[in-house]
Amino acid sequence: MIIGIIGAMDEEVRKLKDEMKIESKMSKAKMDFFAGKLWNRDVVVVTCGIGKVNAAVCAQILVDDFKVDRVINVGVAGGIGEDIVPGDVVIASNLVQHDMDTTAFGDKVGQIPRMDTFDFKCDSSMIEAAKQACGNIKKHNSFVGRIVSGDQFIADVEKVRWLKSEFDAMACEMEGGSIAHVCYLNSVPFVVIRSISDNANTGAHMDFEKFVPIAVDNSIHILKGMLAII
Ligand code: ADE
Repeated sequence: MIIGIIGAMDEEVRKLKDEMKIESKMSKAKMDFFAGKLWNRDVVVVTCGIGKVNAAVCAQILVDDFKVDRVINVGVAGGIGEDIVPGDVVIASNLVQHDMDTTAFGDKVGQIPRMDTFDFKCDSSMIEAAKQACGNIKKHNSFVGRIVSGDQFIADVEKVRWLKSEFDAMACEMEGGSIAHVCYLNSVPFVVIRSISDNANTGAHMDFEKFVPIAVDNSIHILKGMLAII
């Protein structure tokens, strides 16, 4: 089984590459794909860049060129709701693209027109594995719920309230929903796991800088636990 691991930022992927025994490197669409062994599992690790388009292109390359059997997207997200604080982890049960809007045609916001699903559901056994692996993160809480994605860094309390009331979202980020979309189109099981770096409010960009290193450590621990199970 080959597992594709996508991070949006180099900070998120650098440590994983250090842990890996890299067997080959392939560059395509301005992205570097590192194939090899990570804790004895066959993986392809890649930094996709920020936003839904970069993430979608990356996921499709993993499917087409590397024939990955599973996709895991790790990274940071803005937490939605008072219970979720920086350092916590949200495992996506499903994902929606919050910036998709064809309400003018009567669709619900987030619905991709003419698509047979509203949300993209993560693989249940991968969610379970992630939940188990989160037991390794003693200091922080973990949650399972909806993650919403859009090409916007959310730093606005009103917008956060809207994401909560419209989508019942637990976290917001900028790639997961499009990776989920590509995996859905290709019938590849996937999961999105995000560490909370901020609460998507006015100070979000400052918390973000501070919590990225914690998020990176969380991801490494969770992935290590998961790869031993899936
Ligand atoms: N990633 C981390 N924090 C975020 C935020 N507040 N909005 C969008 N993506 C994020």
